[in-house]
Amino acid sequence: MPLALAERSNLIAPSATLMMAAEAKRLKAEGIAVLDFALGEPDFPTPDNIQEAARRAMQSGQTHYTPPAGIPELRQALADLYTKRHGLPTQAAQTVISNGAKHSIHNALMAVCGPGDEVIIPAPYWVSYSDLVKLTGATPIIIETPESSGFKLTPEQFSAAVTPRSKLLMINSPSNPTGVVYSRGELEALADAVLKTQVGVLSDEIYEQLTYNGEQPTCFATLRPALAERTITISGVSKTYAMTGWRIGWAIAPLAVAKFMGDLQSQETSNPCSVSQWAALEAINGPQDSVVAMKEQFTKRRAYVLERIAALPNVTCIPPGGAFYAFMNVSAHFGRTLGGKVVTNSTEFCLTALASAHVALVMGAAFGAEGYARLSFATDMRTLEKGFDALERFLG
Ligand SMILES: Cc1ncc(COP(=O)(O)O)c(C=O)c1O
Repeated sequence: MPLALAERSNLIAPSATLMMAAEAKRLKAEGIAVLDFALGEPDFPTPDNIQEAARRAMQSGQTHYTPPAGIPELRQALADLYTKRHGLPTQAAQTVISNGAKHSIHNALMAVCGPGDEVIIPAPYWVSYSDLVKLTGATPIIIETPESSGFKLTPEQFSAAVTPRSKLLMINSPSNPTGVVYSRGELEALADAVLKTQVGVLSDEIYEQLTYNGEQPTCFATLRPALAERTITISGVSKTYAMTGWRIGWAIAPLAVAKFMGDLQSQETSNPCSVSQWAALEAINGPQDSVVAMKEQFTKRRAYVLERIAALPNVTCIPPGGAFYAFMNVSAHFGRTLGGKVVTNSTEFCLTALASAHVALVMGAAFGAEGYARLSFATDMRTLEKGFDALERFLG
């Protein structure tokens, strides 16, 4: 008898973003020049000062286990950052460093959710949210936010979704996949609706520093004094500092939640990589000019992408206020024959675009939003130019 998998194995599917990236890689290995817009990963190298800090850490022997929730220096730097920059009074004991923000979200959900609980997730949502909720035994409650309402959850939608079992609301602004940034007023209205209930909030703010056209990110926990004790803020260095491979993310959480997350890590992974933690410390405390330079590039690419999308036949897109994604409405093409196949949904659209135009996008279905395809512009200009030329031919 083959070894049977636990029931839990039915709960999750492989991340669709990584799956599309793997498919693109497979074609590349066959010698095909794939124009890859699937992964949400800055194409810039990690800035030199950060790499140098990692080298210094290794050379000075910072290559051993660290405390499970992170080195005190980084936890204190985060406490200072949130207290001073975001205006959220934070103690070092409320911070937990993990192996990437994805791990932070997983451990935060493990800390507060379990069987019988419901977690409200506005769709479109980042691919991993619903599967990570399911892993805890809780049930994701997906609330569709249509393009006509700017892909934003309204307080009315939230209130209507609340039941006695509701444990948590997950929000993500700037958003992956839509790039939508909630205004402060919109978040305040949501916060007031939340405070009328017992529901907590997990606010994923990983794209907080990547906003355009004067859009301002908001640290949700600061909006009302009562929110701090029921909000878990998630962020990390992956996107802002082009550090996806270093795997450092964090949670700022109420003390008891942070304590449990640290205890969980002590049993689960011991600690996030020691060298990466020293690199992250430099990222946060060191010069920020590389962030400004990368943002300038993203700003140019965003403008170019919007111009090219406007010229694509029957494709529309809400201009992203943040992050580095264009969430294109491609539903007008469903029912057409593209690349020799009739395309009826976003998955078929993206698979056909990859097979026939060699353009890798991610299907809206993976984000709980049929009818769309996500294009990441964390890619160099030349690839974007070629990609849009190929898409134009594909759709033309
Ligand atoms: C919304 C969102 N949250 C969290 C993450 C995870 O980031 P990390 O690479 O730090 O695990 C991502 C990465 O794509 C993301 O888009």
